[in-house]
Amino acid sequence: MATDETANETILLRGARVIDPSQGLDAPGAVLIQGERIVASGPIGTVSVPDGVRVIDLPAGWVVAPGFVDLHAHLREPGFEAKETIQTGAQAAARGGFTTLCCMPNTQPVIDSRATIEYVLHVAHGAPARVRPIAAISKGEAGRELSEMGELAEAGAVAFSDDGRPVQSSHLMRSALSYAAPLGLPVVEHCQDDDLVGDGVMHEGQIATMLGLKGWPAAGETITLARDLELVRLTGARYHAAHLSVAGAVDLVRAAKRDGLPVTAEVTPHHLLLTDAWVAGERTGPLAEALAIMTGEPLATGVRYDTNTKVNPPLRTAEDCAALLDGLLDGTIDVIATDHAPHTIVDKDCEYGEAAFGISGLETALGALLTLVHTGKLPLATLIATLSHRPAQAWGLDAGALRPGALADITIFDPDEWWTVEPAQFASRGKNTPLTGLRLRGRVRQTWLGGRQVYEAQ
Ligand code: DOR
Repeated sequence: MATDETANETILLRGARVIDPSQGLDAPGAVLIQGERIVASGPIGTVSVPDGVRVIDLPAGWVVAPGFVDLHAHLREPGFEAKETIQTGAQAAARGGFTTLCCMPNTQPVIDSRATIEYVLHVAHGAPARVRPIAAISKGEAGRELSEMGELAEAGAVAFSDDGRPVQSSHLMRSALSYAAPLGLPVVEHCQDDDLVGDGVMHEGQIATMLGLKGWPAAGETITLARDLELVRLTGARYHAAHLSVAGAVDLVRAAKRDGLPVTAEVTPHHLLLTDAWVAGERTGPLAEALAIMTGEPLATGVRYDTNTKVNPPLRTAEDCAALLDGLLDGTIDVIATDHAPHTIVDKDCEYGEAAFGISGLETALGALLTLVHTGKLPLATLIATLSHRPAQAWGLDAGALRPGALADITIFDPDEWWTVEPAQFASRGKNTPLTGLRLRGRVRQTWLGGRQVYEAQ
């Protein structure tokens, strides 16, 4: 950790491509940092170099971007420290270029009291990422009684969600929206109709039938989302739809935005890039197609029933992936969030039906998403906006920009460096990724938090 002296240092990062969507900046440039904030940024030559500044010259091919902001991460502490701790999750974030993590409340105890919020903030103090807790909508995430939302907001909650145990009662959701509105905080829903989804473990379709696995139908997501959007219409409250996975959900959010409802939405890297065929070991969809183009060789076949492909909501079809990308490109989907869901080996090393849902995503997000950039499907500036400025804007967080006055939270990456996904090397305790062994192009080189370097690739 840096000393107070270095924290007040003036530092100039210079020579790389600086992309800051908050000010429409995309040029070979420089960023001047003083203490924990940025004092100037712009094309090279426009940023004056004060006396005594420490100059860090970066390769022209590297990119300097605002630190990434993840609106959806499971840090597991308190209660499930074998899966992850706040420290290891924050280290994984730093390695992945994320400087702000909003952590979900499905911990043990659930983050539903002032004491648990204060505990999370206390443990996160000094961690290599900013941790912003999301508080539970209902006490114990039990879906019956509202949590003390006012008190939780006062203690530092940035949003409310029962993620992992989605709100089934329309009445409770209406109340949550009504109470959240005057607090100015969004309600975040994992859209899932439990009655319809039952014990489905993968996308309901031909592949589930072929594999003999229980299906999780697309309508299980759209029914809850449609209900919630009607409740937003009724209450006028801010609402954020977590991890959209199906084309119908994109259509619903698009229509809601057209109607002027205060709605934002996120998509995960895995829902954008992977399909349900991965569960059968057949690697189809955008990631596989992009890597085949980038390497000139088809992606090797994977393993059938790999429980690392089990995630909730499940991986969907190639058509859904295409609709999610369209939604990202036209602004219907505001944000890419990882839904980083680390689990132990024991949680995953079992039959598909028994395995825990979730993918450990912080350390592969950038490399996986850059495949869309390398194949011309997603502009780099849009990718960076959806990972930084847009999530910060969506929830009003002090993050996601390189403008003068902004916190000096910065991600520096080499978009062209190839590397191999080796979960044993992850800082995260969660080694559960379906991307093991894949070669990705694009790697975080340095991460800065409040003017201090918290990660440097070896
Ligand atoms: O895949 C998932 N894992 N989806 C969720 O909703 C919860 C999460 C977890 O907590 O593991």
